[in-house]
Amino acid sequence: MAYVFLIHLTCFTLFFPFHILAQNSGLVSVGSILAANESSIPWLSPSGDFAFGFRQLQDKDMFLLSIWYDKIPDKTVAWYVGSLVNPVPRGSTVELQAKRGLVLRDPQGQDIWSTATIYDEVNYGFMNNTGNFIIMASNNNTRLWESFRFAVDTILPLQRLTYGSVLYSRQSETNFSRGRFSLRFHQDGNLLLRVGSVPILDADAVYYSSQTSDAVNPLNSGQFVMFDSKASMYIQMRNNQTMQLTPFGIPPVSENYHRATLDFDGAFTHYFHPRTFTGKPNWTAFWAIPENICTAMDGTKGSGVCGYNSVCSLVGRKPVCECPQGYSLLDPNDKYGGCTPNFNQSCDELEQLPVEDKYDILAGSDIEWSNKSEYEVVNPSTEARCRKACLQDCLCAVAVLRNSSCWKKKLPLSNGRSVTNINSKVFLKYSKSDLPRQPHNLYPASARSKDRENLILVESVLLGTSLLLNVVIIGAICFGFQVIYQNNKLNLHPSKNGVEINLHCFSYKKLAEATNGFREELGRGSFGIVYKGEIKVGSIKDTVAVKKLDRVAQDAEKEFLAEVNTIGQTNHKHLVRLLGFCYEKQHRLLVYEYMGNGTLASLLFGKTIRSWKLRTQIATGIARGLVYLHDECSSQMIHCDIKPQNILLDDYYNARISDFGLAKLLQINQSRTLTNIRGTRGYVAPEWFRNTQITSKVDVYSFGVLLLEIICCRRHVEDVDTGEGGNAILTDWVWDCFQEGRLDALVENDFEVLEDTMKLEKYVKIGIWCIQEDPSLRPTMRKVSHMLEGIVEVMIPPCPSPFFSTI
Ligand SMILES: *[C@@H]1O[C@H](CO)[C@@H](O)[C@H](O)[C@H]1NC(C)=O
Ligand SMILES: *[C@@H]1O[C@H](CO)[C@@H](O)[C@H](O)[C@H]1NC(C)=O
Ligand SMILES: *[C@@H]1O[C@H](CO)[C@@H](O)[C@H](O)[C@H]1NC(C)=O
Ligand SMILES: *[C@@H]1O[C@H](CO)[C@@H](O)[C@H](O)[C@H]1NC(C)=O
Ligand SMILES: *[C@@H]1O[C@H](CO)[C@@H](O)[C@H](O)[C@H]1NC(C)=O
Ligand SMILES: *[C@@H]1O[C@H](CO)[C@@H](O)[C@H](O)[C@H]1NC(C)=O
Ligand SMILES: *[C@@H]1O[C@H](CO)[C@@H](O)[C@H](O)[C@H]1NC(C)=O
Ligand SMILES: *[C@@H]1O[C@H](CO)[C@@H](O)[C@H](O)[C@H]1NC(C)=O
Ligand SMILES: *[C@@H]1O[C@H](CO)[C@@H](O)[C@H](O)[C@H]1NC(C)=O
Ligand SMILES: *[C@@H]1O[C@H](CO)[C@@H](O)[C@H](O)[C@H]1NC(C)=O
Ligand SMILES: *[C@@H]1O[C@H](CO)[C@@H](O)[C@H](O)[C@H]1NC(C)=O
Repeated sequence: MAYVFLIHLTCFTLFFPFHILAQNSGLVSVGSILAANESSIPWLSPSGDFAFGFRQLQDKDMFLLSIWYDKIPDKTVAWYVGSLVNPVPRGSTVELQAKRGLVLRDPQGQDIWSTATIYDEVNYGFMNNTGNFIIMASNNNTRLWESFRFAVDTILPLQRLTYGSVLYSRQSETNFSRGRFSLRFHQDGNLLLRVGSVPILDADAVYYSSQTSDAVNPLNSGQFVMFDSKASMYIQMRNNQTMQLTPFGIPPVSENYHRATLDFDGAFTHYFHPRTFTGKPNWTAFWAIPENICTAMDGTKGSGVCGYNSVCSLVGRKPVCECPQGYSLLDPNDKYGGCTPNFNQSCDELEQLPVEDKYDILAGSDIEWSNKSEYEVVNPSTEARCRKACLQDCLCAVAVLRNSSCWKKKLPLSNGRSVTNINSKVFLKYSKSDLPRQPHNLYPASARSKDRENLILVESVLLGTSLLLNVVIIGAICFGFQVIYQNNKLNLHPSKNGVEINLHCFSYKKLAEATNGFREELGRGSFGIVYKGEIKVGSIKDTVAVKKLDRVAQDAEKEFLAEVNTIGQTNHKHLVRLLGFCYEKQHRLLVYEYMGNGTLASLLFGKTIRSWKLRTQIATGIARGLVYLHDECSSQMIHCDIKPQNILLDDYYNARISDFGLAKLLQINQSRTLTNIRGTRGYVAPEWFRNTQITSKVDVYSFGVLLLEIICCRRHVEDVDTGEGGNAILTDWVWDCFQEGRLDALVENDFEVLEDTMKLEKYVKIGIWCIQEDPSLRPTMRKVSHMLEGIVEVMIPPCPSPFFSTI
């Protein structure tokens, strides 16, 4: 058997390179197509180290669109298309198209995924030797898309994590569904590992922080995480110092492959693997954060690495999960899925036998659980008393005697882990009917061999026996779960493509606390007041913006949740991200990430510097955000209220659209047509006042007005008479100046713009196209975006309206 394997490998290594040299340059031309089946030949990198294509999974009819190490026996996956669409069934295809980049289709020919948001035509694709799949643009040979920018659970040398980058663990080694853990490089400079995949800080969910955030002096904070060409990983600080994560002695890159993966068990682990087959074929863990995943997770949230009622111990840098004696796996095939007792614990007095007949206690040591299942302490206590206290208390599952205090814990037990050198005794309750067993062999722990210290503790109380795979006490467990998950993640309705969104569901009380009783007002909009709040995470705080909706229907729970779900599914650089919500009695609140640099209105109309370059970037950013809302998210969203007050600026002055999706929320209360919703005076399209259909072109109109404001740095309608006579209405004035060829009048004294008249003229023309009274004359947002970015030419616009007048 092994012999055959070796021969096979030898042939493989001998012939493979020729095969590659013969037909591979790493280039993938437009029109290339791969089908998901056994005979599909992947796209290889020039050296043959990496392959892009469909990888067959254990279930032989399922394939994973992925990049893998092609020269090693394991064919380890280094990247895959996000777990929400992958794996795909046999017969699916992927094609490199000129207009849309990579397009993944199911066997029926329906689109499942594409690299999308491509602003240019594709020249070719390239599977680089670094493991990066790149799509090049045809007109200027820049990268339109690359897999390195869309890491899923693994990063490779030369890849970096920038602010907001997130990795998600998979479900298990072989199940590529999204798992329970995420890694995020937070805006404040910290590298964080946490339980759950929601991008919000939650004190109890974080189990590792790099501590590279300095609120007092941001220059001392992290800027990005680099996995460099030598496979050294470090956090680059803004002051140019680095914090090294990788220890010394990195095996040379010339001889080894390297990868860092957020493993399904929650550890972010750097592995290496010899490039040539040397008889030690597998990946070796070089280092990991946290060092000990079992002890690192001691939050009051979640169950720990191993699931509820299980106990975690570290063997060779990897966690091993075991059920305590008297418990067995909830799902016999999932070691990490938690355990359940083999008995029904009940506090129902009627059916009580004397407890001594029913239960016994097993004693051990060196196991610790999170204190959240603690419900009572007996102080002072002795061993005998502690043991008895647990036995006779129908609620008690385990008691821990530490320093003369007896801590009673109830089900479910979370974050169970083996620890050394803590001076405690553990008394675990088990059912006498759950025999055969030999309790006296398991106690005391000190009777066991001393050189296996790390295992004693586990074995002393832990079993591995699932002698009787018994009934789950649904009541106790469910109740426990409910309590724990209250105020935590709420799984909203899955969307039509099966995407499950985990938004936080906050209690009103928690938000009242976070906002200090709704004290600091950030702004008032058509939907309610926005307050600043802070959600604490240990020493770190996440600043949030809490919007109190005041006009939403009270009795439309389903619609509300569906809409919030839709908003929660959006994910775009130029949109403000929704983090959670509150739906409690009459309260309806939305929790957003906080934007540090205020609104576009304060930038444009305030006293700060308003650089032209920044303004043009903001304009293109808003356009891209609107393209996403109109064309690229799961269901089209018309904003209906684009104006400078609704464009926020993040810490890096990126434009971020806010309040999207709310028009529809409000509509729930009202009739089912959009026509009842009105934007803000001056920005609303003329068709609002006619009985015509409302389309996404209303946003184009508002964007046009906004663009002219960005150009001129003045409000559409001046509040006070500026003494400029007929200039009161911006759109009229711009058209007049445009016709007269006097664009300089629009930007008086703005020398930066005056030196860039080409762009000024282009932007003015685009603005005028957008404010055409006839919606059909207005370009789509995608076209606007292309025009702003110079991809398509801008024609001379007609007069917005023969009888142009403002509203
Ligand atoms: C695999 O797919 C290709 C392309 O669709 C097709 O030509 C080939 O017959 C398929 N092979 C098998 C074994 O199904
Ligand atoms: C190439 O084109 C893309 C968009 O098509 C643009 O973002 C990028 O700045 C251009 N690069 C150069 C060097 O012109
Ligand atoms: C492949 O990766 C190398 C190393 O980063 C880089 O220098 C090269 O430009 C990449 N190739 C292409 C076509 O982008
Ligand atoms: C992977 O895990 C998910 C979530 O637990 C489950 O729904 C799915 O069926 C699993 N897939 C496979 C192939 O086992
Ligand atoms: C960091 O290094 C870059 C390039 O070497 C330099 O331009 C920059 O001024 C340095 N920043 C600090 C804070 O030293
Ligand atoms: C490498 O390790 C994985 C799990 O750790 C195992 O499934 C696989 O069979 C191993 N491969 C070889 C070639 O030993
Ligand atoms: C636990 O309770 C359930 C339902 O009350 C019952 O069906 C089951 O037999 C009980 N299991 C044990 C081990 O007593
Ligand atoms: C659990 O322990 C933490 C830290 O040691 C402490 O802050 C918290 O109050 C404890 N909780 C309970 C319920 O004892
Ligand atoms: C144990 O209790 C004693 C007296 O109450 C106290 O002085 C000591 O600090 C405690 N030790 C621990 C580890 O809690
Ligand atoms: C929403 O509906 C409720 C009850 O129908 C009504 O009292 C309230 O005024 C409505 N709100 C708006 C903004 O129309
Ligand atoms: C913009 O945000 C950054 C980061 O929070 C901050 O340092 C800067 O002062 C802000 N600028 C203004 C004008 O508020």
